[in-house]
Amino acid sequence: MQISQLIKLLPKAELHLHIEGTLEPELMFELAQRNNIQLPYANIEEVRKSYEFHDLQSFLDVYYLGASVLIKKQDFFDLTYAYLEKANEDGIKHVEIFFDPQTHTQRGVSFEDIITGIVEALNKAKDEFAISSFLIMSFLRHLSEEDAFEVLEQAKPFYNNIKAIGLDSAEIGNPPEKFKNVFKKAIDLGFLTVAHAGEEGPAENIRNSLDLLNVKRIDHGVNCVTDESLLQELIKQKTPLTVCPLSNVKLKVFKHMSEHNIRDLYLKGVCVTINSDDPSYFGGYLADNYIECQKHLNFSFLELVQIAKNSFQASFLTEEEKEIRC
Ligand code: HPA
Ligand code: ZN
Repeated sequence: MQISQLIKLLPKAELHLHIEGTLEPELMFELAQRNNIQLPYANIEEVRKSYEFHDLQSFLDVYYLGASVLIKKQDFFDLTYAYLEKANEDGIKHVEIFFDPQTHTQRGVSFEDIITGIVEALNKAKDEFAISSFLIMSFLRHLSEEDAFEVLEQAKPFYNNIKAIGLDSAEIGNPPEKFKNVFKKAIDLGFLTVAHAGEEGPAENIRNSLDLLNVKRIDHGVNCVTDESLLQELIKQKTPLTVCPLSNVKLKVFKHMSEHNIRDLYLKGVCVTINSDDPSYFGGYLADNYIECQKHLNFSFLELVQIAKNSFQASFLTEEEKEIRC
């Protein structure tokens, strides 16, 4: 059996996945038509051609534009269910999904339609594919902390559907300390926290996410290597990093997959996991990310098995559930 088939068969958890980043051009066009939205692309080929990024911001501009076709509850359901079908084919058994309410509420979309559309698809996937899931509500860090407080308030009727709070969008110029107060409130309300840090930004953002936002995992985190004492702390505390290899290459964090530092981090003893981030935009879903790592970084299959185990260990499942899944 080929290694790519073995990777697909390996039970995996996906912990860093933006649901808006799973919007395939075909569905983008279908929803644009359904909702009477004018896209600046003539056809699907043009959409794909626009997926040439030189940094995080150049991607975010295209990502927010794509998300503008999502208007109704049914759109969020269709988007989420389409991802879960792919997740099932990839051998994903558990997923912790980010959603960015501000990307939509800023355009007048109802918070209730966003979250109920997503949750209904997650429930269907649990019945059909036995994929378990948690939702992570993410604040857009280029917006203010006051805006984030407002999102937390809007989410109130749906707190039972949300496991954790996250922080994404433009890292440079928007450090974690900007969101210290709203994260404290979220923790007081009983949410777990995570944050994107050390993707394009400095290692200092990782340290401050840990110290000031009390995060349980770091999303990306690859820039931790520039601070040896931080690196040792991540290893000692077993703080997981949700690394997204194809994303990092597409956004030029690393020039080529062969230069990615995930295997070095793994060999040093960091609890790394492999994730797809925004698979429609970055050229591959979860199994593709495992396969590319194996191809270019000489991961053995046994090492990938350990990384898949890490993905369950790093998840927000209970210790009993982890025992059963690993
Ligand atoms: N980084 C920051 N913000 C994001 C990303 C990312 O990789 N994907 C979607 N929003
Ligand atoms: Zn991300």
